[in-house]
Amino acid sequence: MVFSQLPFAGADVDVVVLPWFEDDGAAPGGDVAGVDAATGGELSRALAAKEVSGRLYEIFFAPITDSSWKARRLALVGAGKSADFSGDLARKTAAAAGLAMKQRRVSRVAFAVRAGKAPGTDVAEVSQAVAEGLTLSEFNVGSYKTSDVPPGKAPAWTVVGGTADHSAAVARGRLLGECSNLARELANEPGNTLTPREFVRRSEAIVSGTGLSFEVLDEKQIESLGMGMLLGVARGSAEPPRLMVIRHDPPGAPASPVLGLVGKGITFDTGGISIKPAEGMERMKDDMAGGAAVVCAMRAIAALKAPIRVIGVVPTTENMPGGRAIKPGDILKSAEGKTVEVINTDAEGRLILGDGLWYARKLGATHLVDVATLTGAIVTALGKITSGLFGTPDRWADVVRRVANRAGDRVWPLPLFDEYKDQIKSDIADMLNTGGRPAGSITAALFLKEFTGGLPWVHLDVAGTAWAEDSKPYLPKGPSGVAVRTLAELAFTSREWT
Ligand code: BES
Ligand code: MN
Ligand code: ZN
Repeated sequence: MVFSQLPFAGADVDVVVLPWFEDDGAAPGGDVAGVDAATGGELSRALAAKEVSGRLYEIFFAPITDSSWKARRLALVGAGKSADFSGDLARKTAAAAGLAMKQRRVSRVAFAVRAGKAPGTDVAEVSQAVAEGLTLSEFNVGSYKTSDVPPGKAPAWTVVGGTADHSAAVARGRLLGECSNLARELANEPGNTLTPREFVRRSEAIVSGTGLSFEVLDEKQIESLGMGMLLGVARGSAEPPRLMVIRHDPPGAPASPVLGLVGKGITFDTGGISIKPAEGMERMKDDMAGGAAVVCAMRAIAALKAPIRVIGVVPTTENMPGGRAIKPGDILKSAEGKTVEVINTDAEGRLILGDGLWYARKLGATHLVDVATLTGAIVTALGKITSGLFGTPDRWADVVRRVANRAGDRVWPLPLFDEYKDQIKSDIADMLNTGGRPAGSITAALFLKEFTGGLPWVHLDVAGTAWAEDSKPYLPKGPSGVAVRTLAELAFTSREWT
């Protein structure tokens, strides 16, 4: 992917893609003046006939007749109203256009950056978002198909912007898009190939060569640290658990803050003895999407040279109903010291994360963020569009919220009121591992909070957003790569943390 400051006419590609606003009108001026003439008036004809309107994600091709242009075709991608055009919509229109070009097997594509008028959006941000969107469009879901026509190879991309040199923004977007796609590949991998040990192997390959340190704790080390909740979940499986620790320790970085990222790494969630219904259980192969987001964000953090120390912690295990599996009513002792009565073995994510959060603290994290496909209840509350955000103090939650929404990961806050804690009171232990159906995502978050030691902490529940159930013009069915860009960008905002 290259950035070029050429006028569109100079781009030596097969197709020039131009975002088209609803309010560009039939006689385009400003930065797109001359485009209609290049198509010999085909564009204004189509606009007048209402064949094309600028409606979001609509694709319209027109031949270029002007021989001074190097490209032979123009494609418009609908970009909505210019007043609404933000970095987020730039990312989505670029992804939609990228998918359309890939599907048509176009080999060289230039995407023209146009600045929208949404408040607070600048051209560098749009350029980065375009690079992210085009890169996200390269991801292929069906990697195990042997008989289909193979998916088109991704085109060679040029991002064209006329105003200034935005090559750094484009390179940053490219990298963040690639790291998102790596996380999508991991989440897409079935449970029989991506066991905890294989997750570790692939994660090590992903972080290698970036200057990050990579360490793995095996079941013995996990036991000697007293992580009874992680061990408890792993008991039902023939596969041993692991805990990955990835560190970014740039020379000269201040001693504090230290960002601690913790990701849920359940490589398959059957529910354990509280087994899940068969229908839809196959989806539970992506129950490590949070862990994948942490691993792949760490890669981005190192490659982009974040100026602070960051520690990634990913506890990983299967949740299986084997003969040695934990049973409802069993009591586990966490590394933190608190005891938990497990009344539902399907509420396993919070168990492994509790020990993971404790470990991130022990390693020196001062600010925590965890990412987990934690509860079905968050899908009921927020659907498949928005991740649930929980955290304390408000200032820290607000930082993560702002970064996430800018990175294209929609999040929305939910409360952590103490009154909900009554739902996870146990008669015999310090707490229960579930508070039942009402406010299921909130009681899960309150459970995690018990392991944060009062540090600034945010929990992102991505159970609804990690996997797209139906395809959108900008996002095919399958793993979304949620939270990778948020976690990576967060490591560049430490000035806003205090
Ligand atoms: N991994 C699931 C949550 C999930 C549900 C992710 C749907 C993606 C889609 C989690 O481990 C789980 O099973 N949660 C239970 C908790 C309940 C037993 C308290 C749930 O949400 O049903
Ligand atoms: Mn579960
Ligand atoms: Zn789970």
